[in-house]
Amino acid sequence: MRVISLVGARPQFVKVAVICRAVAKYDNIDHLIIHTGQHYDVRMSDVFFEQLEITPPKYNLEVGSGSHGEQTGEMIKRLEPVLITERPDWLLLYGDTNSTLAGAVVGAKINLRMAHVEAGLRSFNRRMPEEVNRVVADHLAERLFCPTATAVDNLEREGLKERAVFTGDVMYDAVLHAQGAAERYSAPEHRGRRSRGFALATVHRAENTDEPVRLREIVSALNRISREICAVVLPLHPRTRKCIDAIGVDTGEIEVIEPASYMDMLLLESRARFILTDSGGVQKEAYFARVPCITLRDETEWVETLANGCNTLTGANADRIVAAALETVNAGPWTAVYGDGAAGRRIIESL
Ligand code: UD1
Repeated sequence: MRVISLVGARPQFVKVAVICRAVAKYDNIDHLIIHTGQHYDVRMSDVFFEQLEITPPKYNLEVGSGSHGEQTGEMIKRLEPVLITERPDWLLLYGDTNSTLAGAVVGAKINLRMAHVEAGLRSFNRRMPEEVNRVVADHLAERLFCPTATAVDNLEREGLKERAVFTGDVMYDAVLHAQGAAERYSAPEHRGRRSRGFALATVHRAENTDEPVRLREIVSALNRISREICAVVLPLHPRTRKCIDAIGVDTGEIEVIEPASYMDMLLLESRARFILTDSGGVQKEAYFARVPCITLRDETEWVETLANGCNTLTGANADRIVAAALETVNAGPWTAVYGDGAAGRRIIESL
């Protein structure tokens, strides 16, 4: 069986690492990776392939950044001839990025069998590019691997239940596999950080970065938390850095660092007193680490994390963010809702 994984952005590298390990247990699967080049900085891409020991991509389409149309269009154009040449039995799509959308469109047009890893998630907010991408991928793929029971229910409501397979979350597999390694392979400056001595923050969603009012509120909240509660460490996504520079907002009180590798991120998450984020993956990693999370969005796809105050939605309102930060001491208990760490194996068995 020939399987092609299509990836392009940081969270997809974490997910494909799980599939690489699952595939390695079979000698009759020919698995190759196509990288769209959506993320191309060393810290956004190469470091993940190295740390997670991911098979190097056979193709890198080197598409890079651009507007949604430009970026997705370029991916579609460059991907089609490669998929026609390689003709896999299955094309595996991951998550909800523009790389996922491009793969779904090309695969459907040339009649490939497609499977979607992390299917069925919905924010019910079609203004998010990710929501559009995941809806298209789910409707075009024939096998839908769901990380949660909620995801299966969402697909049922859209008439897609027959294609849904509950597997658990590949990101949980990834965290279990990396446990221990994060202590060894993270950067020394992070290993020296005191447990519960700081809060960890990440911000990269377009709805926050591209809206100056929201971005100002978030930065103001992080400054206030640093002054009034505890230090805030902010690994900064390149898009957010550009947006902060463009509106000239002052991050003076915050410890801004370069984008973190996977191992650094796991270590920082496990030691943080609480986490503030607009990322889907980081919300779950906070949950796996049993660290309270504040989500800087108005809704979440990962609704299970909201139980027992483990995760709190604050939107981008500075007062609400600071108030939630003071409440995190009451979070928990955390219950197991993301499977048993064998999602990768189930996906390969299903294919
Ligand atoms: C993408 C995904 C998002 C995912 C995120 C993880 C889409 C629509 N969004 O958002 O779902 O959560 O990846 O990070 O696909 N840039 C660099 N170097 C890089 C990559 C990006 O400088 O290696 C800068 C560029 O200015 C670029 C901007 O970041 O224009 C945005 O990058 P892009 O890949 O378009 O979207 P993300 O915000 O990373």
